[in-house]
Amino acid sequence: MEKNLRAPKLGDPLPASRASAEAVELLRLRRSTPADFLTNPGPDEQTLASILTIAARAPDHRRVTPFRFVIFEGDARRRFGDVLREAFIAREPDADKKRVACEQRRFLRAPVVVAVVSKVDRNHRTPEWEQVLTAGAVCQNMLIAASASGFAAQWITEWYAYDVRVLVALGLEESERIAGYIYMGSAKEAPKERARPMMDQIVTRF
Ligand SMILES: Cc1cc2nc3c(=O)[nH]c(=O)nc-3n(C[C@H](O)[C@H](O)[C@H](O)COP(=O)(O)O)c2cc1C
Repeated sequence: MEKNLRAPKLGDPLPASRASAEAVELLRLRRSTPADFLTNPGPDEQTLASILTIAARAPDHRRVTPFRFVIFEGDARRRFGDVLREAFIAREPDADKKRVACEQRRFLRAPVVVAVVSKVDRNHRTPEWEQVLTAGAVCQNMLIAASASGFAAQWITEWYAYDVRVLVALGLEESERIAGYIYMGSAKEAPKERARPMMDQIVTRF
């Protein structure tokens, strides 16, 4: 992969479109790889920075930047496991040890996990709904950027996207929510096609 790509400067002319059969093929066959099927290697520092920069180019009405990222790599994934363990025991005090250990290991399933935090400014004239949609678009951009950079990925929420203890430990403010945890790594095995919407059931013409 080409490294050190120059970021466009403010006002630089950019292509309005860029026909790429390869990009169309990537999107046409895009598939998530379940976190349990991820392994090393994950993106290195430079590639991850590029993936996040691309993710942050999602459409954003009135440039609110209604999102931020928290990166988990290496030992931070294990440390976050301690948070997951405590939060899970508080939710399910009767859970057996095996289940607790499984919850504790969640982030160890992939070499890199990025929490995409949706950050809504309720006083901004851009509606909350649109700010939330931007955070979703950021997650999708991240999946595509990961794939185009040679890495498998999955967008996950699971219980710890909603658990107040976990959110407090992550330092989320009242106006913030987890849009998703994007797990990234290499696929242990290739994913298979899943059912897709029947286009004639979801497309009409006005
Ligand atoms: C907001 C959001 C949350 C999701 N949370 C989970 C999850 O917690 N666990 C899971 O297995 N899949 C979750 N998914 C679904 C997967 O990311 C993935 O889309 C799904 O497995 C289908 O694969 P595909 O992306 O190849 O279509 C979530 C998707 C979205 C958009």
